Amino acid sequence: MADKIDRRKFLQLSAFSTPLFAAKKNFADNFSFLTFPIVISTWDTGMQVNAAAWKILSANGRAVDAIETGARHIEDTLNCCVGLGGNPDRDGIVTLDACIMDEHSNCGAVAGLEQIKHPISVARKVMETTPHVLLVGNGAQQFAIENGFAKEPAQLSESAEKAYKEWLKTSQYKPLINIENKKSGGPFAPNFLPNGTPNHDTMGLLAMDTKGNLSGGVTTSGMAFKLHGRVGDSAVIGAGLFVDNEVGAATSSGVGEEVIRICGTHLVVEFMRQGNSPEMACKKAVDRIVKRNPEKAKTLQVGFLAINKKGVYGAYAIQKGFVFSVKSGNENKIHESKYAIG
Ligand code: GLY
Repeated sequence: MADKIDRRKFLQLSAFSTPLFAAKKNFADNFSFLTFPIVISTWDTGMQVNAAAWKILSANGRAVDAIETGARHIEDTLNCCVGLGGNPDRDGIVTLDACIMDEHSNCGAVAGLEQIKHPISVARKVMETTPHVLLVGNGAQQFAIENGFAKEPAQLSESAEKAYKEWLKTSQYKPLINIENKKSGGPFAPNFLPNGTPNHDTMGLLAMDTKGNLSGGVTTSGMAFKLHGRVGDSAVIGAGLFVDNEVGAATSSGVGEEVIRICGTHLVVEFMRQGNSPEMACKKAVDRIVKRNPEKAKTLQVGFLAINKKGVYGAYAIQKGFVFSVKSGNENKIHESKYAIG
């Protein structure tokens, strides 16, 4: 009920700012697709993340609170690719990247954070209590501990441990990420590395609350078996996450280096600002990566996920296999992303 009241207020305010003769037509043109609150997130694991975030959104909570709640949920789950159970770097150390951004363009991030369970909350603390955006490594850990976060050892999930042991046999530094095994049984089946290890990576989530405000967050253990000290897109505002409350928001998953090179999510939001749909905006960013090096693009995966101010969402990936989860008043499901290289 409160949701409806908020929406009605929003529509009334917008209608009053429009000349009366145009108001009726503009109402239909501008608001026919309004769908919020809504939360969308990367991968099929996004379903449980969305469910956690929805508890906040459906109670008229702020989008940024929903984002933190959803991300904490997956950080609490023993998972190959997020949190203390995630894939280690090549030295066997789990290092975590996360960032968060709200409707006022406030943002915070941590990179290379060790032995702290909830990097998303540390990122939020950076956003809300410091003049900085990004803290890294020991400094990020020190900041977390000073702010009451407990230090606890990483505990590799079964799948992360299995994959690391397998990788150690050759220790080849070949950062193949998210090349889903096309024989894994269809778009909604879990995606696996050849050794049978689940190979999803980053959890990126975007939410719009009942006030129509946008926020986003990302949390990950990053690329499996990366060089110690490597930071991916997930800690970089404008790469793994960007929110512009006037336009829309975007997040990414896949090989972070490729996303950083094109300032991927900032680019997606700028494409939306130019009038592109979220899906087209994601496609144009993917095309930018593919065009830069078509041969290399065949060997890697990047997926973008975006939402605009009407609550319209879309995604696009380099390769087949990128899926994303959506929860709104209208739906609760996993979608398959379109892709550039079949
Ligand atoms: N997208 C996650 C990473 O590259 O670390």
